[in-house]
Amino acid sequence: MLNFNKLSELARVTGLLQSGFASKDTCYSDKLSNLHNYLLENCSSSYISQYLTGGLKHWSRKWEYPYILANIAQYCREKHENLSAFDNACGVNATAYLLAKTGINVTGTDLDDCPAAEGVLPSQHFASPEMLNLPGKVSFIKADSLHLPFDDNTFDLSYSISSLEHMPDPVKAVEEMIRVTKHKGLIVFTMDVAPYLTSFNGESNVNNSNFNEIQNILLDKCSLFSPPKFKIPNEPLSWEDDCKQSTGLRELLASQSRKLMGKPPSPNFYIFGGAYIKNMDI
Ligand SMILES: C[S@@+](CC[C@H](N)C(=O)[O-])C[C@H]1O[C@@H](n2cnc3c(N)ncnc32)[C@H](O)[C@@H]1O
Repeated sequence: MLNFNKLSELARVTGLLQSGFASKDTCYSDKLSNLHNYLLENCSSSYISQYLTGGLKHWSRKWEYPYILANIAQYCREKHENLSAFDNACGVNATAYLLAKTGINVTGTDLDDCPAAEGVLPSQHFASPEMLNLPGKVSFIKADSLHLPFDDNTFDLSYSISSLEHMPDPVKAVEEMIRVTKHKGLIVFTMDVAPYLTSFNGESNVNNSNFNEIQNILLDKCSLFSPPKFKIPNEPLSWEDDCKQSTGLRELLASQSRKLMGKPPSPNFYIFGGAYIKNMDI
């Protein structure tokens, strides 16, 4: 079972427990590989480890999955009661499963119950027999992150991995995420930030024009959980460069399908991770 103390310890060595931008160095460090191995050891299911392994090979997910899990681990270390978590725009991934193994009840939402690259729907994924016999319950609801079907102050912790940038109104999405999280609850997310003033080819709706607005809302209603290192790295991450280094089939197929659809090479993005505690009972 995932040991939250051990995970936080490994994360501290990598410098992961800081809110801010991921640099190339942090994404490719050996220390991060140790943490990847630790996470994979905790995936007894081959079905789920396929998602985690795929994710940990994928450019920014190398950093994003450990970042999210490490902050949740740090937050939950001292808490023993039945915790509820919200996976906002969950798609299909292994995070909910890993958390449910520790006894946390996880609700995932996504706009579409659309298949992952492997053809599995989020609802199928959460209803698979392996998911039904875990200490925590996992469930899936089809919902728009801009209008979440939950009461105010519902979840002990909310997280979102690389999804806010795909939404038409990321500012509203952040407000909704804060609303459904309990007072003193954790809000942790990662997102791509396009180094442009507008969205690039519809690929990141978080950019230089609304990123500050998102930060201001968070700092108004929340306090920082992870200490900040808001220094923007010299260079954004390049998905195309990562593909060259990777032997992953998923990356290869994705870059080929971009070419076939006549899309330009993936733009470079900054990857931001933030962890906050909600301050207000709203
Ligand atoms: C890049 S995927 C990330 C999925 C997952 N969080 C992960 O870690 O792999 C982005 C997800 O955001 C979802 N999404 C985009 N806009 C949404 C919206 N308005 N409401 C809910 N989900 C949305 C997509 O359906 C997709 O599953």
